[in-house]
Amino acid sequence: MPENRSTGFPVNAPKLHHTTFTTLRLDQMVEWYGIVCGLRPVFHSDEAAWLTNDEANHRIALLSPPGLKHPTDKGHETGIHHTAFEFKTFDMWINNYIRLRNKGILPFLTLDHGITMSVYYQDPDGNGVEIQVDGFGDWADSSEWIANSLEFAENPIGTFFDPEKLVEARDAGLSFQEIHERARAGEYLPETIPEDIFLPEVW
Ligand SMILES: [Fe+2]
Repeated sequence: MPENRSTGFPVNAPKLHHTTFTTLRLDQMVEWYGIVCGLRPVFHSDEAAWLTNDEANHRIALLSPPGLKHPTDKGHETGIHHTAFEFKTFDMWINNYIRLRNKGILPFLTLDHGITMSVYYQDPDGNGVEIQVDGFGDWADSSEWIANSLEFAENPIGTFFDPEKLVEARDAGLSFQEIHERARAGEYLPETIPEDIFLPEVW
C-alpha cells in the first residue's frame, strides 16, 4: 500500500462502512433502528443482527453473546457518543422529525452545528443517533466551511433550537437557508438549554 511520504497516511484510505454494538436488548434494538432509521435486518438470529438501509450489506451490526453486562455510567464513560445518518433535503429531515415525534420518539439534543442541522435520539441502550441534514446541502461547501470559517472555530458545537419552532417556520413558508440562518442566530432557542452534551442515562 503506497504511503504519502510526508504524513505517513495511506494514499488509498478505506471508507467507513459500519458500526457494531453489543446489546442485551437485541430485538428492541432491531425494531428501534427500523422505525427511526429505516434499517432492515438482512440477518437476524437470537444472538446477532445485521442491518442496512442502503446498498451496503450492513451498516449497523448488533451482537448479543452470552456474558454481556450493561455499562454502569454510560453517559460519562468513554466510547461512542453517537452514530449519524443524513437526509438529502431539509424537508425530508424535518418530516422525519415530525414522523417520529408523532410516535412519541423525541430527540434529547437539537443543534444547528452550521455544517449540519441535527437532532439526536437515544436507542434503547442509550447510544446516541444523530439524524442530520447538511447545512449547505452540499458536502464540498460544508467541508470548506468546517475547515476555514472562523464562525465554526469559535463555536464548534453550534446553537440549540426547538424543533417545533422549525416546523412552524417551514410551514410559514421560510426556506431552508432562511431557517438555518435564523437558527444559527438563536431565533429558535428551546425553553431550556441543555447544560452538556452527555448521553442521558436511560435506565
Ligand atoms: Fe455527529
